Amino acid sequence: MALHTKLFLSLFLLSSCLATLITSSQGDYRFWQQQFPFIRRASSFSSVSSSKSTRSNGGEKKFDYIVVGGGTAGCPLAATLSRNYSVLLLERGGVPFANINVSLLSNFHLTLVDTSPASASQFFVSTDGVFNARARVLGGGTSINAGFYTRASTSYVKRVGWDAKLVNESYPWVEKQIVHEPVFEPWQRAVRDGLLEVGISPNNGFTYDHLYGTKIGGTIFDKYGRRHTAAELLASGNSQNLHVLIHARVQKVLFDTTGKKPRAIGVIFKDENGVNHEAFISRRRKSEIIVTCGAIGSPQMLLLSGIGPKEDLKKLNISVVQDNKFVGKHISDNPLNTIFVPLNRPVKQSLIETVGITKMGVYIEASSGYSQSPDSIHCHHGVASAEIGQLSTIPPKRRTQEAIEAFKQNKKDLPHEAFHGGFILAKLAYPKSKGHLRLNNTNPDDNPIVTFNYFSHPKDLQKCMKGIKIVEKLVRHQSASYCYDVGQVHGSADFKRQIREIRRNMK
Ligand SMILES: Cc1cc2nc3c(=O)[nH]c(=O)nc-3n(C[C@H](O)[C@H](O)[C@H](O)COP(=O)(O)OP(=O)(O)OC[C@H]3O[C@@H](n4cnc5c(N)ncnc54)[C@H](O)[C@@H]3O)c2cc1C
Ligand SMILES: *[C@@H]1O[C@H](CO)[C@@H](O)[C@H](O)[C@H]1NC(C)=O
Ligand SMILES: *[C@@H]1O[C@H](CO)[C@@H](O)[C@H](O)[C@H]1NC(C)=O
Ligand SMILES: *[C@@H]1O[C@H](CO)[C@@H](O)[C@H](O)[C@H]1NC(C)=O
Ligand SMILES: *[C@@H]1O[C@H](CO)[C@@H](O)[C@H](O)[C@H]1NC(C)=O
Ligand SMILES: *[C@@H]1O[C@H](CO)[C@@H](O)[C@H](O)[C@H]1NC(C)=O
Repeated sequence: MALHTKLFLSLFLLSSCLATLITSSQGDYRFWQQQFPFIRRASSFSSVSSSKSTRSNGGEKKFDYIVVGGGTAGCPLAATLSRNYSVLLLERGGVPFANINVSLLSNFHLTLVDTSPASASQFFVSTDGVFNARARVLGGGTSINAGFYTRASTSYVKRVGWDAKLVNESYPWVEKQIVHEPVFEPWQRAVRDGLLEVGISPNNGFTYDHLYGTKIGGTIFDKYGRRHTAAELLASGNSQNLHVLIHARVQKVLFDTTGKKPRAIGVIFKDENGVNHEAFISRRRKSEIIVTCGAIGSPQMLLLSGIGPKEDLKKLNISVVQDNKFVGKHISDNPLNTIFVPLNRPVKQSLIETVGITKMGVYIEASSGYSQSPDSIHCHHGVASAEIGQLSTIPPKRRTQEAIEAFKQNKKDLPHEAFHGGFILAKLAYPKSKGHLRLNNTNPDDNPIVTFNYFSHPKDLQKCMKGIKIVEKLVRHQSASYCYDVGQVHGSADFKRQIREIRRNMK
């Protein structure tokens, strides 16, 4: 026990030193510009598109590839292509570097709760009422997410038809640059032991591979709790060929519609001062515009560009480039249920490390604590926080602004101890329930209207209940024997209430 306390203390000191270091360099462009000289503000781009839309021609640079969206997929893609081709990568947000909210594990919840236009995370609520977050920063999801890293299952790679050999060769490229073995916190250890006890076996130890049983996966947080994002992968690009613009909000993809088939030729983007620019690809036959704006942003970008259901586009006065009824259809989100396990002492913060991978396609994961400053209890914590974990006790459809305010008010004066504990998450892989997405307006900065229809397919509901049963077993087991390292489970009545409420909400 003494050892744990000491370890905890020294890690804490280290991370607070790091925090100071990062704060003092905040806003200092030189800090990261040395390593990433090819990242510039959008306003530095030379072509300005005039209101009369005089097409820029002749003199200025055209690119072999334009990648729209500098996120988890866009960054490594741009870096790789830049080895052989000229690439323009356009990202609507800023850089993740020197941003203390993004860079520290202990601040995980701060970005998610920051709903200002400058936040690295764009708050998003589907019509189902479930809270979510969309990345708005270079590095995309890897700059705001829980940082868990795993390789895909071999069956998944086969199913989607990827080149399995190439996929295998690509993993170490990513892993060497940004993936780490987690510190493996006591709570994660307790959950691992519990999972094995309830039969999610074998114990696969620490591995990047996706295997049935219980494992400890990789993380993009290093041992000091510093986040390493996909933006760092840009360092392996060819800086002569790579042009990255931040605060470049792409408005739409431009098409040449004079030929037999429409051909993407360029993009229009707004810089940080609201000025429009146009950028074009070269006439080389293989030149392409690649849209990597994320699961929500990519269909939104297609619709804004005139590719989608004709009737919907016409309603918004978007000129139709290609009538396609499938754009925005069959969208799904992995449903996740979270149980908060209250403990009798503070628990060190951890995000996802241990995972139980069941054959039925339910994954059991865990996180614990949060940065326990007296301030943080009084703020609204966002999707993954202690408070929101408990917000699951308000059914999504009833999460009106008033209900949320009342909830926050109600939680304000809870004692610090009420937040000691860990979370156990039951997540569904490959949900069968499907939904749809459509534009709310033609402003690319606004969220489209998205409906996921969680649990509308009976199989999803069934699986979810099975997942919750496993968690229930796990917690019962832990309360019996497995929590000596992290503290005793208490408030089992509260736990039973949570299970009951999840059951009720699902009906
Ligand atoms: C809170 C949270 C926790 C998560 N935890 C994990 C985890 O632990 N492990 C895991 O593997 N996954 C996790 N995920 C999921 C994971 O982060 C995403 O699946 C992944 O990042 C998606 O990558 P992407 O490239 O498709 O999109 P993104 O990474 O979102 O990239 C899209 C990029 O496009 C940009 N963009 C969008 N529209 C425009 C535009 N008009 N102009 C210019 N740029 C634009 C965005 O700003 C963004 O940078 C989590 C997600 C969330 C929200
Ligand atoms: C890129 O160029 C290198 C040599 O510079 C070559 O080995 C490689 O095959 C090329 N890759 C592609 C995708 O063209
Ligand atoms: C960090 O998050 C807090 C709380 O959400 C917010 O007030 C602050 O402006 C953010 N700081 C940065 C640098 O984004
Ligand atoms: C890729 O690696 C996995 C193990 O991680 C292995 O099972 C699989 O056979 C490999 N596939 C190919 C095509 O090399
Ligand atoms: C579309 O254009 C028509 C005619 O110019 C206008 O009346 C209508 O308000 C526009 N609709 C939208 C959604 O902008
Ligand atoms: C759609 O836009 C309107 C007006 O801008 C806004 O009030 C509304 O909340 C938006 N709907 C969604 C689902 O975002």
